[in-house]
Amino acid sequence: MEINFVTGKGGVGKSAVAAALALKRARAGFRTILVELGDQSYFRDYFSLPSVGYQAQTLEISGVKFDLAQWSGQECLKEYILHIVKVESLYRLFFENAVTKALVNVAPALSELSILGKITSGPPRNVGPKMPYDVIVVDAYASGHFMALMNAPTGLATAIRFGSMGEQVRSIGKVLHDANLCKFFVVALPEELPVVEGLELAGNIKKVTGQSSKVLLNRLLPFSQELNADLTAHAEPALKNFSNYLQELEARQKSMQERILNSGHEAQSLPWILSSDAKEIIERLSRELQA
Ligand SMILES: Nc1ncnc2c1ncn2[C@@H]1O[C@H](COP(=O)(O)OP(=O)(O)OP(=O)(O)O)[C@@H](O)[C@H]1O
Ligand SMILES: [Mg+2]
Repeated sequence: MEINFVTGKGGVGKSAVAAALALKRARAGFRTILVELGDQSYFRDYFSLPSVGYQAQTLEISGVKFDLAQWSGQECLKEYILHIVKVESLYRLFFENAVTKALVNVAPALSELSILGKITSGPPRNVGPKMPYDVIVVDAYASGHFMALMNAPTGLATAIRFGSMGEQVRSIGKVLHDANLCKFFVVALPEELPVVEGLELAGNIKKVTGQSSKVLLNRLLPFSQELNADLTAHAEPALKNFSNYLQELEARQKSMQERILNSGHEAQSLPWILSSDAKEIIERLSRELQA
């Protein structure tokens, strides 16, 4: 069992990288599910699907199949409670009345914990309904919200010390700390602020889970010596400015790559895939990702 969390600042390419990682693992022969968190599906529009929901559906990219689902806190909690109480009407009596709904909404940590409970419900915890996967790739929340997710078990462990619920909370926290089970990917763009925030996020993940993240510097433009020579050869004023801009961009990309290397994190750069076809972007990105 392998759980991969993909996070980073908003808009840096978390979803694209998560999908590429899922495709890569599926191509290697692992039963894989790509899970997006939250209430709205991004992949529905991205892959032009009729809908994406709690029940997994199969997605196929260049002949390779993997599952796709979107999990909300409410649905994860419902599935877990149903697994315990078994009877749907009993579930409704307790959990679909206004009071409990309000309670779940004011206790965001409970919602986060339910999601983590579902993600980590396979081996070695083996709780709830069986999940037929070797690999889970979580297209997770952006930075701040992701840390709230990671902090949920610790926060609740002090509130719920005893009983089976306390046991659950501690076992979920343990899985997050287990380097054999959970891997963390922080995506960033080759710009000052996204890199600073990405490294800060990786630092926070380390603080909370004890785990190192792999930092993925995404959307690098492919510069070459030939391209640079061509650009500097242009003397027309309009193109001169553009060429200067591209050279600045290249210098910035290089310095961001160095910044990440010097930070001591495991790192990889990913190219900007010049295509407007979603499946092609994911397919090509998946070939770029190193093991
Ligand atoms: N390496 C890449 N090459 C080309 N296009 C990319 C690359 N990475 C991401 N994209 C594109 O950039 C856009 C933003 O990426 P994506 O939606 O994955 O970001 P995100 O971090 O998930 O955003 P959000 O914070 O809104 O969830 C998408 O259209 C995606 O296809
Ligand atoms: Mg996204």
